[in-house]
Amino acid sequence: MIYVVLGTQWGDEGKAKVIDYFSHQFDYVVRFQGGANAGHTVHVGEKKFVFHLIPSGILHENVQVVIGNGVVLDPGCLLDEMDALAGEVSFDGRFWISNRAQLVLPYHKWLDAAKEKKAKNPIGTTLRGIGPAYADKVERLGIKTGDLFLSEAELTSRLEKSYEIKAFLLKNYYGMDVPMTVQQILGELLRYRERLAPYITDTERLIQTAAQQRRNILFEGAQGTLLDVDFGTYPFVTSSNTVAPYALVGSGLGLVDVANVVGITKAYCTRVGEGPFPTELTDAMGELLRKQGGEYGSTTGRPRRCGWFDAVITRYALGVNGVSEIFLTKLDVLDGIEEIKVAVAYEIERGSKKERLDYPPQSWEELSRCQPVYVTLPGWKGKTAGVKRYYQLPTEAQHYIEFLEMQLGRKISYISVGQDRSDVIER
Ligand code: IMP
Repeated sequence: MIYVVLGTQWGDEGKAKVIDYFSHQFDYVVRFQGGANAGHTVHVGEKKFVFHLIPSGILHENVQVVIGNGVVLDPGCLLDEMDALAGEVSFDGRFWISNRAQLVLPYHKWLDAAKEKKAKNPIGTTLRGIGPAYADKVERLGIKTGDLFLSEAELTSRLEKSYEIKAFLLKNYYGMDVPMTVQQILGELLRYRERLAPYITDTERLIQTAAQQRRNILFEGAQGTLLDVDFGTYPFVTSSNTVAPYALVGSGLGLVDVANVVGITKAYCTRVGEGPFPTELTDAMGELLRKQGGEYGSTTGRPRRCGWFDAVITRYALGVNGVSEIFLTKLDVLDGIEEIKVAVAYEIERGSKKERLDYPPQSWEELSRCQPVYVTLPGWKGKTAGVKRYYQLPTEAQHYIEFLEMQLGRKISYISVGQDRSDVIER
């Protein structure tokens, strides 16, 4: 059985909890894109774990955990994360890094910061060097984890090729200092190599063999569909493909049957960073959602922008991912809100005409001008928090879920109503 689990909005849909929830049924959990820009928080009892690079499946000791070739890997960040988990979980013999994954190097982070600082319309990136690392990959200037095993002379020459351009840009275009030399970066890489060597391998073979043996594989998406570099609100997106089909490219598995694509959808919407967000609430209701939902970035701590559920962008996301069922998260955050709105369409002025859209426009400029058409639903007085069975939910909460299902044309099979692993209603 092969599952892909990913977010259908702008990220932060609660993926880590969902992946943690499913993990015990799987033999492999695989990350296939993104890097340390992701921030996943998992609560297990009193303990809180934050993951940036390591798939949260690591918390289940029988699961093999893989960082695929589609990921951009910051080795220092990975080692910090491994150190933080030391004593909690074991890595040996169950944690694997693709030798084809690209490295995020210090100059990628310098460039990310310099670009954001100078930009008239910054993207609001996480400053983790993601864009420049993917740019190097497609510019054929990248360094893969497997390249750490080249001779020092070869590695130095590869580093120099990429570094020289960045140093020139930083000094002459961005007017910034270059904090490290190639030799210093090399020194860091050699230290990382020693510690990471046992885990770096041909992970595509591992995954292909697992698939042939009919083992259960779970692909863990990072960021969200609306941040996909092709299908997101470009240019306010991340630099990787976040959609389900990329799970295969980013892991080296050929075209195989994916049994299920689970779309993780938050019961309202959030977004971090800049870019269009039609249902954003900048009033007291937005503040309430942020407060009740604890909507602050796990990676940057930035307050997330909050808004009502947007069925238009979610329908679009279900299509580009091939989502078969939905895992609705954070329903309990809506507890106690008197009236809840759902955007079912947009209105936009084009020339002298007002048009109604049920599909998002391609350009971010147009999407920014879209006015949501809302349907208002009654909220509920009782609590959904901690409820174990669907029929125990307040009637209005059941209506809300069924309304979303009707709008989205997919079954909402799971509903998360609290932070803990056990706070999930299965339907
Ligand atoms: P980058 O991925 O750091 O280049 O950031 C590009 C955009 O994606 C920014 O708007 C970030 O806030 C957003 N982003 C990146 N990773 C995540 C994530 O894991 N959750 C939510 N937003 C993210």
